[in-house]
Amino acid sequence: MKVAIRYFTKSKKGNTEKIARFVSETIDVEALDVTHPLEEDVDQLLLINAMYAFDVDKAIKDFLENNASKIKCLININSSASGSSTYKSVKKVADKYNIPMSEKEFHTAASWIFINKGRPNADDFKRLEDFLKEVVVNG
Ligand SMILES: Cc1cc2nc3c(=O)[nH]c(=O)nc-3n(C[C@H](O)[C@H](O)[C@H](O)COP(=O)(O)O)c2cc1C
Repeated sequence: MKVAIRYFTKSKKGNTEKIARFVSETIDVEALDVTHPLEEDVDQLLLINAMYAFDVDKAIKDFLENNASKIKCLININSSASGSSTYKSVKKVADKYNIPMSEKEFHTAASWIFINKGRPNADDFKRLEDFLKEVVVNG
């Protein structure tokens, strides 16, 4: 079973990159940003992203468009300041390009300007570790 990790991080805090690094260390799979296309078909793509202006960034949408045929199952791992998940935004793109997407996702509240200082925190990472054990084939 092949698992790949791709992420897109935008803010100076680099919350998504931190989450991607944690996932990478936990499941022992390299985390690359979305400028790296998939080189082969993957059973699970862990797409690590965040909410910007009530949506996911174009970089995430472009990655899905350009790699759709290689993704057997997309798993959404994401953060936002408000506590709202990016699931619907990502699902819309996945549906457009016929990418199967897991109903299970991981979301955490995360810091932005003065909101949610210190998040994701140790509890958030523990929840993420549990999620990976449950959902990821080599978690
Ligand atoms: C430009 C910008 C726009 C954002 N817009 C939203 C938003 O509409 N809703 C929300 O809940 N969080 C919003 N956030 C907060 C981010 O989703 C949150 O801080 C996330 O963890 C950022 O990940 P990053 O550090 O990897 O870029 C925004 C953050 C930035 C930098």
